[in-house]
Amino acid sequence: MIRLDKILADMGCGTRSEVKKEIRKGLVTVDGSVEKDPGRLLKGSESITFRGERLVYEAVVYYMLNKPSGVVSATEDRKQKTVLDLITEGRKKDLFPVGRLDIDTEGLLILTNDGEMAHRLLSPAHHVEKTYFAKVRGRLTEEDVRAFAEGLELSGDFTALPAKLEIGAAGEVSEALVTICEGKFHQVKRMFLKRGCEVFYLKRLSMGPLVLDEKLNPGEYRRLTEEEIRLLEEIR
Ligand code: URA
Repeated sequence: MIRLDKILADMGCGTRSEVKKEIRKGLVTVDGSVEKDPGRLLKGSESITFRGERLVYEAVVYYMLNKPSGVVSATEDRKQKTVLDLITEGRKKDLFPVGRLDIDTEGLLILTNDGEMAHRLLSPAHHVEKTYFAKVRGRLTEEDVRAFAEGLELSGDFTALPAKLEIGAAGEVSEALVTICEGKFHQVKRMFLKRGCEVFYLKRLSMGPLVLDEKLNPGEYRRLTEEEIRLLEEIR
C-alpha cells in the first residue's frame, strides 16, 4: 500500500509537503470522492484526480534516452546538466540512469525507478552485452581485433573480458563497433588506448536486448515499449 501524498509527489505534482497542502485543500479525489487525508493508503490502482486532472499512476517507469554529449549520467550535479534534467515529463522524482556514460559519450541510456531491473542490467553475473560505435585516431588492424578478442590487460589488476571489435573504416582515423559485457570506468576508451588509439567519439548503440531508437535525436527520449520491457525481464 502507498500513501496518497507519496503517489502525488512521485507523479511530479509537487514536493511531499506541497502535495499534503493541496490534498488538505480538497484538490484531490480518489475514486470520485474528495480525499483530504494525505496519509490515506492506496493500492495504486485507484482512480486519482489532481486539480481536476486524472493521474495515471505507474509503480515503475522506463525511458530510453539518446544521451547527448555534455551532460552527466547522474541524478543531480552542482555544476553540470544531468540526464535527468532532460526528462521533462512530470514523473521524474525517483528516476535514475542505469549505469553511466562518460560526459562526452552519446547514445543509449535507460532511465528507470526499477532498482531490480537496473541490477539485472548492470550485474557482472549477467554479462549483458553493450555495443558502442567509436571513432579513433589511428589505424585499426586485424591485430587489434585479435587483441580485443583475447582480452586486454588494462591495469596490473584488471584484464578485460574478451570483446568483439568490428572495423568499419581504417585510416589515420578509424571507425569500429566494439561489444563488451562489462562496464568498468572508461573501459572502451582504455581498451583502444591500450592499442595506441585515442577515442574521440563514442556512442552506445545497444545494451542487452535494447537498441537505440534511430528516431531519437541526441537529448530526446521516449518510454520503453511493452515488448522492450518484456525483453529486459527475460535477462537472467
Ligand atoms: N566506455 C567508455 O570509455 N566510456 C563510456 O562512456 C562507456 C564505455
